[in-house]
Amino acid sequence: MAKTDAQNWDNYWQGRASTATGNALIEVGIEDNHDLNRFWLEHLESQPKQTQIIDLACGAGSVLKHALKLGLPNLTGVDISSNALRSLTNNISHASAICAPVKDTGLNNQTYDLAVSQFGIEYAGSREDLLQTFQEMHRILKPGGDIIVVAHIKDGVVYEGCIDSLSQIELIEESQFIPVSKKILQTLYKEPSPTRDSQLQTLMGALNQSASPISNWLRGLDRSKNVFARFTYHLLESSHKLITHHSAFSKADSLEWLEGMQLELDAYKGRMTSMTRAALDQDDLAALMQSLASKDIGLNFSPHEKMFFANRQKPAAWVIKATKNL
Ligand SMILES: C[S@@+](CC[C@H](N)C(=O)[O-])C[C@H]1O[C@@H](n2cnc3c(N)ncnc32)[C@H](O)[C@@H]1O
Repeated sequence: MAKTDAQNWDNYWQGRASTATGNALIEVGIEDNHDLNRFWLEHLESQPKQTQIIDLACGAGSVLKHALKLGLPNLTGVDISSNALRSLTNNISHASAICAPVKDTGLNNQTYDLAVSQFGIEYAGSREDLLQTFQEMHRILKPGGDIIVVAHIKDGVVYEGCIDSLSQIELIEESQFIPVSKKILQTLYKEPSPTRDSQLQTLMGALNQSASPISNWLRGLDRSKNVFARFTYHLLESSHKLITHHSAFSKADSLEWLEGMQLELDAYKGRMTSMTRAALDQDDLAALMQSLASKDIGLNFSPHEKMFFANRQKPAAWVIKATKNL
């Protein structure tokens, strides 16, 4: 994995450090998801108390929190981001936190009874990296140990949420809202003059034009359910305040705030893009199973299934299960 990917995740988790659950899907409008919660509770409740559980690409522990609730004490999380692991241990103080790539955890052979991952291992990098991650899970599992993976599915509801977000980001980028706001602020702080006033008039016209499609898009949305709509609303409202009350703020602070919003937008775009790239289709899974079968490492896969969220026709995720031979 490229170093920048690890850094991007670290920045992401640094920004999320204050959130309690760190649920992976909040960004595509799916908060604490009932179907995922039920899935994990059902799969974890039958585990014996001494089960050693490892969550790969665990984030802040949205799977391990279910194990905790069920009173399972032996919990380990692996993630590439040390900030994610900080959130994990804030949520579950006794969990072991390992900062490593999932394809090469550095953990001992045959240590765990159950390896789980939720929207995690498919971020490992290339399809070859994903293959290596399954080999790694096999290595660290005890004989008879189980793998349960919930992975992004191409063209499913989460994938479509990401594609929607990407088109909304494009709308903001194309509108030039942030660069025009920046120019207005730079002009506002200049000495008053007829030239400055006429520049401002032109720029304000351009700003109204660029804000109009964004406001139209926002109008139809329930902001309580859409994180990106909340971000965009904040961008519009606060930029408006910075411009209309510019004398109350310093030029440096105002410009820094706008630059910060641009960075957030770029980071959000990066995450949405990596989610869409991580999503697996039927052919990806068939190729993965074939490669693993050819290596004959001794993992027995159940036929993979699709997970559906309530009231949604398209699937939300793949469910991939395997057991290590005895
Ligand atoms: C979409 S989040 C999911 C987090 C968590 N499983 C959840 O469901 O909330 C993906 C996670 O994968 C981690 N990650 C990405 N690439 C990784 C890699 N190569 N090795 C380990 N963790 C990785 C990220 O830091 C992030 O925490």
